[in-house]
Amino acid sequence: MNKKIIVTAALPYANGEIHLGHVASTYLPADIFVKFLKLKHYEAFYICATDDYGTPILIRAEQERKKPEDYVAYWNERDYKDFKDLGIDFDFFYKTSSKENEEMAQYFFKELYKKNYIYKKKILQPYCEYDRKFLPDRYVIGTCPYCKAENQYSDGCEKCGKAFEPGEVLDPRCALCGKEPTNRETEHYFFALSRFSYKLEEWLKENQNLQEEVKNYVLNWIKNGLKDWDITRDISWGIPIPLDEAEGKVLYGWFENHLCYISSTLKYLKEKKMDGKTFWNSSIIYHFIGKDIVYHHYLFLPAMRLGMDEEYKLPDYIPTRGHLLLHNQKFSKSRGWYVSLREYLDSFPADYLRFYLASITPYSQTDVNFDWDEFLIKVNNELVANVGNFIYRTLSFIYNRLKGKVPEPKNLDKLDEELVEEMRRVKEEAENRIINNEIEKGLKRILEFSDKCNRYFQQKEPWAREENVANCLFYSINAVKCLSLLLYPYLPFSCRVLWTQLNLKDLIHEGWDRADELSIKAGHEISKPFPLFKKIDKVDIERQKRKLGRIG
Ligand code: MF3
Ligand code: ZN
Repeated sequence: MNKKIIVTAALPYANGEIHLGHVASTYLPADIFVKFLKLKHYEAFYICATDDYGTPILIRAEQERKKPEDYVAYWNERDYKDFKDLGIDFDFFYKTSSKENEEMAQYFFKELYKKNYIYKKKILQPYCEYDRKFLPDRYVIGTCPYCKAENQYSDGCEKCGKAFEPGEVLDPRCALCGKEPTNRETEHYFFALSRFSYKLEEWLKENQNLQEEVKNYVLNWIKNGLKDWDITRDISWGIPIPLDEAEGKVLYGWFENHLCYISSTLKYLKEKKMDGKTFWNSSIIYHFIGKDIVYHHYLFLPAMRLGMDEEYKLPDYIPTRGHLLLHNQKFSKSRGWYVSLREYLDSFPADYLRFYLASITPYSQTDVNFDWDEFLIKVNNELVANVGNFIYRTLSFIYNRLKGKVPEPKNLDKLDEELVEEMRRVKEEAENRIINNEIEKGLKRILEFSDKCNRYFQQKEPWAREENVANCLFYSINAVKCLSLLLYPYLPFSCRVLWTQLNLKDLIHEGWDRADELSIKAGHEISKPFPLFKKIDKVDIERQKRKLGRIG
């Protein structure tokens, strides 16, 4: 079995806060998955970066009177810190504006150009005579042709949600000065996506790892005909097109951003003195994404790698998940219907969010609903009352009644045997789910185990039946250790604390496969325990709910 794995998560645009929606669909599932792989002692790397280029970022930087370099550097640092505080551990977090990515993107461009997969075409582009600038993408604003909402970007309407083509927006104006743009001729480079229809179809059909539901609608897009992509922008903020004749033109962000998966991995492995290209081509590759960028990852990205004759291999898996709704409505920053990751972290422990989001997010396109009341219920009833209760009960019994020493077990009775057998089964069954990316099902299975542990303790009544004390506490403490390994990918902060309460070192080296071993021996001394989780107070939830829909 191949144990080399590269996992990437969609690169966040460097122009705003990470919010809970990004976390649920992409960064958290990928992080849990990688933590699991590492516990399985796979050679797995989790790579991410900020997506630094593009028109929206340049506009925001200009509005804030910052150099775009400084603007994106701020968000790169901020995102990394927010992720870190949620326990999202990238092995490497880089940026699309790196030297390495520029080289990679220019290399891809030149090769694809040589092979005639990129061609030139003259087109008309909006141009502001006053600012003396071409106005790509969001530089043009106007009125939505469908719902007539004013001040919408020219690529789609925030109010009614429709996307539109260039030229469709009514009453177009320059986003910088408000004047009406003219149209000017300019020469653009196009990527011949349409020429890959057959190869893409073949690849999609052959690849058994992709989610069927996504595959089917991507195949449908191919059937309806793929359009070539304009990969040029007449702006200054981007990777220069590496041709003398293309002075002043840069690559469209979606040509180069996904190449940053490759360029960042190579850079990271080079620092580890490894041959990155060989590693890339001999590992299993996962690109975790949200469903809004399926088109780019299932068509554009593989087509570019196919056009390069698979010099860098295509992804094996593209785990795609749905959007997160907030109390059944879309996240919207402008309407204040929004919870940023930082805002959350200022109010509750990181593991509670990991637990809640992991338990509600399936491996599918279905949208998921974040609800503050449900968050409280899940944390209080499952994390505190089930998991936390069993762990604290076991540890405090040993600490208070047995002077902190694990007792010597006697012959196993039926209940003990069942518990030992259940440890083996939960390890196997949770593993099967996680490896299939059914992260939420893995968690559910582990919670069932924890529930059984509680029942075991309850039936044994060690507080009342002296003869049961030794076995109950010996097997219970080993079950706690088992839980601390299985839950680690989901609850890394709490499990680390638990390891110190158990007076064990970092258990990562012990790993997933040994989770069911009775490795805590009689005579082992534990440290003073305290409850790992605290019930959430309704007052704190009400405070969060009152914030929703308020702007600013
Ligand atoms: N920044 C893009 C977005 O948020 C995602 C880019 S993923 C990449 O939609 F791989 F293609 F870079
Ligand atoms: Zn203008």
